[in-house]
Amino acid sequence: MPRMEQGYRVLYSMPPNTMDDEENVFEAVDSFPNAEALIVYQGLVGLDEEKSQLVKESSVLLNRSLLDDWSKQNHKRVIPLVDFFKKRAPLFIFAGDVGTGKTTLAETFGAAISDREKNMSINLYRLSLNARGSGLVGQMSKLISNAFEEIRKTASEIKINAGRPSSGIIFFIDEADALAQSREFQQMHHEDKAGVNSLIRGIDTLSKQGLPVIIVMCTNRFDSLDPAVVRRAAAIFQFKRPSKEQRKEVIKQNLDGIGLKAAQIEKIADLMGSTKDRTYGWTYSDMRLRFFPSLVIDAFPDTAITFDRIVELAQAFEPAKPFTNEKSNA
Ligand SMILES: Nc1ncnc2c1ncn2[C@@H]1O[C@H](COP(=O)(O)OP(=O)(O)OP(=O)(O)O)[C@@H](O)[C@H]1O
Ligand SMILES: [Mg+2]
Repeated sequence: MPRMEQGYRVLYSMPPNTMDDEENVFEAVDSFPNAEALIVYQGLVGLDEEKSQLVKESSVLLNRSLLDDWSKQNHKRVIPLVDFFKKRAPLFIFAGDVGTGKTTLAETFGAAISDREKNMSINLYRLSLNARGSGLVGQMSKLISNAFEEIRKTASEIKINAGRPSSGIIFFIDEADALAQSREFQQMHHEDKAGVNSLIRGIDTLSKQGLPVIIVMCTNRFDSLDPAVVRRAAAIFQFKRPSKEQRKEVIKQNLDGIGLKAAQIEKIADLMGSTKDRTYGWTYSDMRLRFFPSLVIDAFPDTAITFDRIVELAQAFEPAKPFTNEKSNA
């Protein structure tokens, strides 16, 4: 199902043609510019460095002449280091704990690229969960090859004017560990290994042809990704649970208007941190998707949301357990 949350509504358009396969390899496609997606992107807390790196890296991947221009301007010639970028696979991995913004960032950063690149049109294609196949021999690898071929074909039709493509593509593979699991795992089915091989072939083909495509893979289990996939990544972004300062920011953002004082916000942010019985703090999604809405339902219809009640409910709240043994920075 396409995602719908925070008032950011996915734009529906027809899924692209899926060759001769019955199943759709892609879920709905989103297009940017999209003002709502840009607001969601801007509202993501604690990811400023990641956002800035991601958008810059994407700009130079989509428009391969930008670095040449930069180099000529700043070093009077194209320095050899710039060539290194031309050979990199256009792959980003978003790894980390549950509910920390991986999917949301992947689904909205196209809006930021579009904004930065003077409204360049960006299309986001999500690999469909159905496309992961039922494990029948040949199915998984065929679906992956089909998806990459579809992306390659669409991307090769994009007009490029003086190095600048008229549009760009984001190919988004969520929960990628299901596809890109390390082939070293003994118990891995032969078909899954073939799937990883097609994935690697697909990534290599896209990078060799220098097409304006960015691949994003999200995972909770970074350690189980195939090393050959990880090695190809242009950048790996690690997502963490919010620190106290970040929790305070999320509280201010979301509980605005109910009259909380600074010391009260401080206290709530503390309650959302680790405790003596729990080594981890709350996730962003614990706060935004579970706790804050529960405050409204609790108070509705007769009372206002009060600080005392927030404290009481926060003390009783069970945050999501970490997916791996990763430490939170609570
Ligand atoms: N950095 C953040 N700042 C603000 N809100 C966030 C942030 N990260 C996540 N959220 C909130 O949590 C919700 C869930 O986040 P998202 O689905 O992107 O997490 P995820 O990392 O993909 O989790 P999972 O690993 O479980 O798939 C978002 O819709 C948003 O409301
Ligand atoms: Mg996710």
